[in-house]
Amino acid sequence: MEFINVSKKFNDLKVLNNFNIRFEKDKITCLFGPSGVGKTTIANIAANLTEIDNGEVKVTENAVYSFVFQEPRLLEWYSVYDNIDFVLKNVYNSDKRVNIIKDYIDMVELKDFESYKPKELSGGMAQRVSLARAFAYPSNVLILDEPFKGLDMKLKREMISLFKKLWNESKRTVLFITHDVDEAVTLSDFIYILNEKPAKIIDYINILEYNDVSEVKYRLDI
Ligand SMILES: Nc1ncnc2c1ncn2[C@@H]1O[C@H](COP(=O)(O)OP(=O)(O)OP(=O)(O)O)[C@@H](O)[C@H]1O
Ligand SMILES: [Mg+2]
Repeated sequence: MEFINVSKKFNDLKVLNNFNIRFEKDKITCLFGPSGVGKTTIANIAANLTEIDNGEVKVTENAVYSFVFQEPRLLEWYSVYDNIDFVLKNVYNSDKRVNIIKDYIDMVELKDFESYKPKELSGGMAQRVSLARAFAYPSNVLILDEPFKGLDMKLKREMISLFKKLWNESKRTVLFITHDVDEAVTLSDFIYILNEKPAKIIDYINILEYNDVSEVKYRLDI
């Protein structure tokens, strides 16, 4: 997936001006940068949820998206099971759905909670449902917009390793947005550091080239 000279204005505010970026297939690409720089706007453009003013967005053929946001966005009146079932209804027949949903509920360790409603879950559990739902859906592009924000350190680490487990089982192109240095270096393959308005890429890091990620951290100190 690639942006070529993309420009986007909201009223008089230029968020992107001839902006270029690439997202490699089945890799985790991180957008790192301060609040308001345009990260969510880039994700929304990538997912075709926001129209651009100028330029071109080249998307892989048959791109299918799933999302995880900062807040889990579950359907309050549905159980854990039904929240996942809801997005798969039009994709798989009921026999296949049952197996997939059970597998994913198992993987995120919520077997005993499948009949619980979102209100009856902790924040971390709800976020696990949201991860399970995003992976259960047969997408090939996964957009994560600050999915671990607001979780405590321990839970965040657990969620990151859970994410890696799910992703290793079922790889997809990931666009991962974060402000958090630890998250960026532990999860990403590539990091684009954004700053300024309109958004500019001020640094690009290929994590795969580093043996020791602590060397990368100072570059994220913006
Ligand atoms: N729908 C919209 N209408 C008007 N302005 C918008 C809209 N969406 C975003 N903006 C503006 O575009 C700029 C970039 O917003 P965006 O949400 O992409 O930032 P961000 O990098 O995701 O920030 P954060 O880290 O706080 O989530 C902001 O100045 C914001 O006010
Ligand atoms: Mg944002």
